[in-house]
Amino acid sequence: MSDSSAELPAARGPAAVLTGVGSHLPPRRVTNDELCSRLDSSDAWIRERIGIRERRRAEAAVSTGDLALDAARRAMRSAGVTDVDALVLATTTPDHHCPATAPSVAHRLGLRDAVAFDVTAGCAGFVHASAVAAGLISAGSARKVLVVGAETMSAIIDPDDRSTAPLFGDGAGAVVLEAGLPGRDGCLGPFVWGSDGSLADAIVIPAGGARRRDRRDTAPPGDHFVHMRGNEVFRHAVRRMSRAAREAALAAGWALDEVDRLIVHQANGRIAASVADALGIPPGRTPSNIAHVGNTAAASVPLLLAHAADEGHLKPGHRVLVVAFGSGLAWAATTLVWPPGITAEL
Ligand code: UT7
Repeated sequence: MSDSSAELPAARGPAAVLTGVGSHLPPRRVTNDELCSRLDSSDAWIRERIGIRERRRAEAAVSTGDLALDAARRAMRSAGVTDVDALVLATTTPDHHCPATAPSVAHRLGLRDAVAFDVTAGCAGFVHASAVAAGLISAGSARKVLVVGAETMSAIIDPDDRSTAPLFGDGAGAVVLEAGLPGRDGCLGPFVWGSDGSLADAIVIPAGGARRRDRRDTAPPGDHFVHMRGNEVFRHAVRRMSRAAREAALAAGWALDEVDRLIVHQANGRIAASVADALGIPPGRTPSNIAHVGNTAAASVPLLLAHAADEGHLKPGHRVLVVAFGSGLAWAATTLVWPPGITAEL
């Protein structure tokens, strides 16, 4: 038997068609000036080097599950559905180590006995979760799937660490995918995805997991926050997203100059610009919301889809290339032709 995935036949069965988009942002805005009252940084530096003016922060009583619930409700309203067969939740900040957050969100949505599980692939999580959902649909295991990306990054960011605190924000976005005919507008895929665990320590929360549990009670408090080698991650993000996006366009049979919109993970404005530049996609085709929401990790791509759709940047017939990258390291890219009749619920 061959071990070459290139020789596997293309998936048959129904395709995953996007039918609804929703988002939710906690109301509290945190400006750069507010952050810098305790951080050795400045509004000018953060705007110039990251492209962020403000981000949202959930109150301490509000969890990832709460943000996910609101975004999921809105995506279902946008799709005009009252039930789904499965909920896949991408997050780096689950409400608990155990159990997964998705079943509780499904329960609160009133989805009785629905399949519900979390996917962890850092900021690439939403695109990974979409690939998993598309697989469930094409295998005939589900016909309607909610895919949610939700984060309370404020729970795992050290407010005194200037290499992470200015970057991240809280929020959630969601889509509904439904079984449909392959080739019609709104179909997601093919997907190009992968990981490189040799760089697992480039973005890591050192304490609190099964590794080094012998130091559970003695780990320094800072080890419960994200540690990131930002500059190194920056270079990998540009390289991996450029390559994955190029391959996803090729797999869809698109030339890069035929791409109408690039939806790129809002990691850092300069990363997004470098990826677009490497692909030769002009800034006018690359919607962005990082200035006002920051880097919302797994929520970044669905939030941008919702905001870009709401602002009229995504029009029916547009060829949309989607790409994300995050801890793991992990990356994923896919394509869709923006379908008619989508009204994002914000
Ligand atoms: O979402 C997926 C995963 N995450 C990412 O993709 C994030 C990737 N990384 C980044 O976005 C950027 O690397 C950061 C925003 C984290 C840092 O920006 P940078 O342009 O890569 O800065 P740097 O680490 O190369 O540091 C350049 C200089 C240094 O000073 P010296 O040594 O040149 O004097 C830093 O100490 O900037 C300094 N610096 C800061 N200065 C003011 C680093 N962070 C800050 C800060 N404010 N917040």
